[in-house]
Amino acid sequence: MMNGNLSSDGGVTDMRGRHRDGLDTPCLVLDLDRLDRNLALMRDLARGAGKMLRPHAKTHKCSRLAARQWATGGCVGICAAKLAEAEVLLEAGIPEVLITSPVVAAARVARLVALAARFPGLRVVVDARENALALASAARQAGITLEVLVDVDPEMGRTGVSFAAAADFAQWVAVQDGLRLRGLQCYAGHLQHIENAEERASRSRALLGRAAEVFRRLRASGLPIDLLTGAGTGTAEADLGIPDLSDLQVGSYCVMDAEYLKLGGADGRRFDRFQPALTLLSTVISANHADFVTIDAGLKQLYFTPDAPPLPIGRPGTWRYEWFGDEHGRLFPPPGGARPALGERVELILPHCDPTINLHDLLWVTQGDTVVDAWEIDLRGLGQ
Ligand SMILES: Cc1ncc(COP(=O)(O)O)c(C=O)c1O
Repeated sequence: MMNGNLSSDGGVTDMRGRHRDGLDTPCLVLDLDRLDRNLALMRDLARGAGKMLRPHAKTHKCSRLAARQWATGGCVGICAAKLAEAEVLLEAGIPEVLITSPVVAAARVARLVALAARFPGLRVVVDARENALALASAARQAGITLEVLVDVDPEMGRTGVSFAAAADFAQWVAVQDGLRLRGLQCYAGHLQHIENAEERASRSRALLGRAAEVFRRLRASGLPIDLLTGAGTGTAEADLGIPDLSDLQVGSYCVMDAEYLKLGGADGRRFDRFQPALTLLSTVISANHADFVTIDAGLKQLYFTPDAPPLPIGRPGTWRYEWFGDEHGRLFPPPGGARPALGERVELILPHCDPTINLHDLLWVTQGDTVVDAWEIDLRGLGQ
């Protein structure tokens, strides 16, 4: 791998112990102390409510970071969005992984069952009889019992069975030979970024409350299910109040991003309990215009959303970032604000953490100004 931050043998030894100013840009920098504070805060919030965590690795795509979440405590598992992510996490030693999207198509089902035969801590969601029958048949052939959760649609329409159909479907899944039903998943992605904290909380409590009702009914009927999993960073604190919720699938809380930081939080404050731990270091590569500079971070390095632009750190006022091609972006200082000089570094809080991380190979881990490690983003690009 050729990377300006790596030694000629591809190792990270050249940078470890050095000042982060020595990092070549654009690159992702992870502040270890902030990360640890975010992990501990979510663990403590969950513990205080008698809940477990099942953090979602789709955010960071990094098995080292998942292992740190596990080591921080309070985790019952780690979530993966896709089968290929689950393969890497399990191989890396994460004991329990839930795949939060249905695994469909014959070749993928075969791969899933082969993985479950090696790693009994693998679980997957189902939302269709046809898929459940395929999973059950493959599991029987492999001589294993596959642990599944029924995905309940929080009226978002992406995946999942409706609230009305969930109980019957779960009863049917529970009697399929080759499957073991562990419970329900209900993740309300469409609520996570509602600006108003009260509205976000009340809508999430109402929806998860309906999933909890189905869960209670199933248990009352004698089904031995024990998991009701859901929640994201935006609704986590409200969802802690749902008594039946067993664990929270929080993702972004570990590193945070501009999309979350711009939301309203409790008591009229911003959504700022979890602090941005991840930034993109960039460099001004051209400064020939009076009102903007060009930096080395474009679409290939920074996923951009106009409603939550990247936030330059340590530069007061409202800065504007504009996409300027695959390799470049342009930064407009606020009126009267000083323009960074040619060669100057600009550190940006990411607009949306997940898709930006997926563009990079490494997280450069720092404490204070010192680079202490580099973690491979080893789930990068694994979308199958
Ligand atoms: C199924 C599922 N669970 C949990 C999460 C984590 O959400 P957040 O990053 O908002 O915490 C996601 C994110 O998209 C998700 O798709």
